[in-house]
Amino acid sequence: MTDLPLSGTYHQEDGREMTDLIETSRDGAVQIVRMTRPDKKNALTLAMYGGLADALTAAESDDAVAVHLLAGAGGDFTSGNDLNDFLTLTGLVGTDLERFLLTLASLAKPVVAAVRGAAVGIGSTMLLHCDLVAAADDSRFQFPFVNLGLVPEAASSLLLPRLAGYHRAAELMLLGEPFGAAKAQEIGLVNSVVPAGEAEAAGLALAQRLAARPRQALRKTKALLKQGDESVSERITREARLFEEALSSPELREAVAAFRERRPADFSGGR
Ligand code: COA
Repeated sequence: MTDLPLSGTYHQEDGREMTDLIETSRDGAVQIVRMTRPDKKNALTLAMYGGLADALTAAESDDAVAVHLLAGAGGDFTSGNDLNDFLTLTGLVGTDLERFLLTLASLAKPVVAAVRGAAVGIGSTMLLHCDLVAAADDSRFQFPFVNLGLVPEAASSLLLPRLAGYHRAAELMLLGEPFGAAKAQEIGLVNSVVPAGEAEAAGLALAQRLAARPRQALRKTKALLKQGDESVSERITREARLFEEALSSPELREAVAAFRERRPADFSGGR
């Protein structure tokens, strides 16, 4: 059976914030949230979901953080839910697993994932909620639910067909077979594929590029991209309202001033 930590409480260790097997650290305005159970390929326990949700929630309300970066320790992203936990788990609603998924899906700040090795089950479905994904060429993705006698989670039955088209989603969900980084890029699940061992650097670089951009504009753009259930005319009007608001933003002032003064824009003081 598993060696599960039982609480989701923060404590300090070596100057870093830790919560069970979830470790957080900061690189500039990028908050790195790392699944840290490498001997089990970062398989996720309920306590770890609680730690992930807590870490993301804390970073979301921290003005020093512009972007979240999800990563795994060792050679893997995550091999998904701890299979041993499935033997004792009787419900999902109201658990830390559901809380993590709802938290991830509702983050206003951009989320980047750096994937290498196994990205199985929730390791694949959580990517559908990330904004940008960098993957190593040794990554192995899988939506294995049907083979376990389970059904899709994390709104993946809605989001995967939207992303990949029905037939490709059906192939991946109904057969539940593993697939590599090239296929993940072809279906749009990942943005870039890099040599093995370079995924975290590539993910961090993407996150830093996002962190240098105007924060309010980023969040509003993300919110628009994520909401897909509007008609084109409704969307034109909603975008126009947000555009109007943005016309009086300090971010636009800085962008135009930088253009006129022929210098790079500096959005670092923004929230
Ligand atoms: N839950 C619990 N333990 C897991 C796990 C999981 N999801 N994934 C891996 N582990 C454990 C293994 O039991 C093994 O533990 P041990 O060393 O104590 O025996 C260790 O992690 C290494 O895994 P192993 O299977 O030996 O590595 P591998 O490289 O041969 O295979 C995977 C990697 C990811 C393909 C394989 O571990 C796997 O299929 N895991 C299950 C994935 C899954 O179905 N997840 C649930 C999705 S809903």
